[in-house]
Amino acid sequence: MPTPYYVLTFSFFLFLLSSHPLNGQEDTEFGHAMDRKLLGLKRKEKLSHFKFYWHDILSGKNPTSVAVVPPPLKVNTTTAFGLVNMMDNPLTLGPQLSSKLVGKAQGFYASASQTEIDLLMAMNLAFTEGKYNGSTITILGRNCIFNKVREMPVIGGSGLFRFARGYAEAKTHWIDLKTGDATVEYNVYVMHY
Ligand SMILES: *[C@@H]1O[C@H](CO)[C@@H](O)[C@H](O)[C@H]1NC(C)=O
Ligand SMILES: *[C@@H]1O[C@H](CO)[C@@H](O)[C@H](O)[C@H]1NC(C)=O
Repeated sequence: MPTPYYVLTFSFFLFLLSSHPLNGQEDTEFGHAMDRKLLGLKRKEKLSHFKFYWHDILSGKNPTSVAVVPPPLKVNTTTAFGLVNMMDNPLTLGPQLSSKLVGKAQGFYASASQTEIDLLMAMNLAFTEGKYNGSTITILGRNCIFNKVREMPVIGGSGLFRFARGYAEAKTHWIDLKTGDATVEYNVYVMHY
């Protein structure tokens, strides 16, 4: 009886598997160069600009930003050195909180200076608008909140922003010094594929 075709195919498949370089010496390999086209990176990088408003809401019944670590008492400063705030801040198209929501800024900021109000910002901009829905941009930087314009690096991203790099400029649009509530204009310039 002749060997059925599918048995031959299957044996050939097994042969391929056993002779594949990954099953040989190279399967202990940890990293290797690869063709960028395999990740769809054949196109040129593009530059995108995003403008939106970031709302830090500390007051009221539904704050979007809350202190999770208070400044330690043994450090006597006027800068709240050591404070950590966790946020899930709305990002809107216009300066009004009621304007169109385009995403959330999720992450934290921490008071990182003993002599001035400098924040360490670590946040993911999680967009929900249009084709950017589900994609994120990650910002990690220094935010001296009383400077007119603060620049922070874009250190990466996900989805449409894989391999992202760039920077963000933050300008305070409005601040209530009593509650700390603030609206900040963000302009983000990002290179991505
Ligand atoms: C904190 O420092 C200020 C001056 O730098 C001082 O007047 C004050 O007594 C200090 N407070 C505490 C609790 O040590
Ligand atoms: C964004 O994507 C989520 C999950 O796919 C979906 O539920 C949501 O409706 C989308 N939002 C917008 C504004 O398109």
